[in-house]
Amino acid sequence: MSKKMKLGVFGARRGSYLGSVADQVGFELTAVCDTFEPLLKNAEKKLANPKVTFYTDYEEMLRHDLDAVIVANYATEHVWAVTRALEAGKHVMSECLAMLTMAEGVRLVEAVEASDRVYMLAENYPFSAENLEMARLYQAGEIGEFKYGEGEYVHPISAEEMAGLVSGPDHWRSWLPVTYYSTHSIGPVMLITGTRPASVNGFVVPYDHADPLNFGRPKMSDLSSVLMCRMDNGALVKIIPWSELRDHGNRVRICGNRGTMESSQQDERLRVHYEPFDYDPPRVKTMHYKPNFPDFARGAVRYGHGGGDYFTSYYFHRAIVEQSRPIIDVYKAIDMTSIGILGYRSALSGGVPLEVPDFRDPEVRERCRNDDWTPDPAAYRDGMPHPSVLGKIEISGESQAKFRELRQKFVDKL
Ligand SMILES: NC(=O)c1ccc[n+]([C@@H]2O[C@H](COP(=O)([O-])OP(=O)(O)OC[C@H]3O[C@@H](n4cnc5c(N)ncnc54)[C@H](O)[C@@H]3O)[C@@H](O)[C@H]2O)c1
Repeated sequence: MSKKMKLGVFGARRGSYLGSVADQVGFELTAVCDTFEPLLKNAEKKLANPKVTFYTDYEEMLRHDLDAVIVANYATEHVWAVTRALEAGKHVMSECLAMLTMAEGVRLVEAVEASDRVYMLAENYPFSAENLEMARLYQAGEIGEFKYGEGEYVHPISAEEMAGLVSGPDHWRSWLPVTYYSTHSIGPVMLITGTRPASVNGFVVPYDHADPLNFGRPKMSDLSSVLMCRMDNGALVKIIPWSELRDHGNRVRICGNRGTMESSQQDERLRVHYEPFDYDPPRVKTMHYKPNFPDFARGAVRYGHGGGDYFTSYYFHRAIVEQSRPIIDVYKAIDMTSIGILGYRSALSGGVPLEVPDFRDPEVRERCRNDDWTPDPAAYRDGMPHPSVLGKIEISGESQAKFRELRQKFVDKL
């Protein structure tokens, strides 16, 4: 592919890794920005790339000669950073989530529509070899019409690991409600089947004070949740957004009216099943195999998240070069993120179904313009939700002290 594009990354943890991947996929990593100086210094050491300039001020980084920016600051603060980068004439790839509130979704869509630059969501889970193979099979008609699906992102985090990820109770990972981190579980289902969620019902497994996992962590949100999504083709999908159940991994299951396929947790194998009565002559009943990446991307295996981190940079670069719509555009990004916001609102109202507004239609999204309903404790006021369905979760003094000790150890090692 053509010339290398100069790239800046905002956020030195996830961001500097994504920058180092993009550096091998058509971009030239040129600048990194983070206010947390120990982390920035650590990124400088790890990247060991003399071509990279390091910043603590985002506006200053945007004044650098850059073609594109990866926005990987706090998951709940992407919209302002994306908007500023677009205004500065940069192409933008935003990490998950697309937005924290529905009103922010309106601002995001309008900023993208007003710009001639590319915006893409860096949702990477659709691009594991199994998920890409399921997309290929589904789109070739191999399992018939999509009827039912499941997507899960189960990721319990120990207190030691959390201390490296969370600076304190104000950090988004401490308070983000359990339904919100939904893009890793709905993303694959949407990309495999080409459908979008039209409505969502949310249900939450509440915070468990007796769970030893919670000791030494400032986390105030619940244990797990289920979102039931009715897709626009009528299919039903069960989504488990970021959950701390004890079975680390991410599953996807797609059931059509002529077969079922699912990724298995342990061995990166795909299972495809046919009933003999559906085919004449009958097909092999069950296939269980490890799919390859497509020929153009065999090297993806070297990259994080089952190769997914390669594909997000690849597709971002391709959309810029071809001046085409990126594989996860702003509308898909908002669909993937909206179910988490609306799913929480549903869970707090007894699981009622809520329409997922289609932001492609300006009249539909107009209804969300002033919907600033937010679980951010810093913005709490009457009418706003708490991070847990149980209300405000108090963390004991002992647990807070343990967290501070673990956090200090982490920072000392940077
Ligand atoms: N797709 C994936 O698999 C995946 C994996 C991990 C993280 N993420 C996403 O990456 C993003 C970053 O997550 P993270 O794990 O790196 O943790 P994080 O959210 O703690 O990191 C954000 C970084 O941005 C910096 N930052 C925040 N505001 C800033 C500002 N105004 N100026 C300068 N720096 C600022 C912080 O100091 C911090 O180092 C999140 O959106 C998260 O959802 C995605």
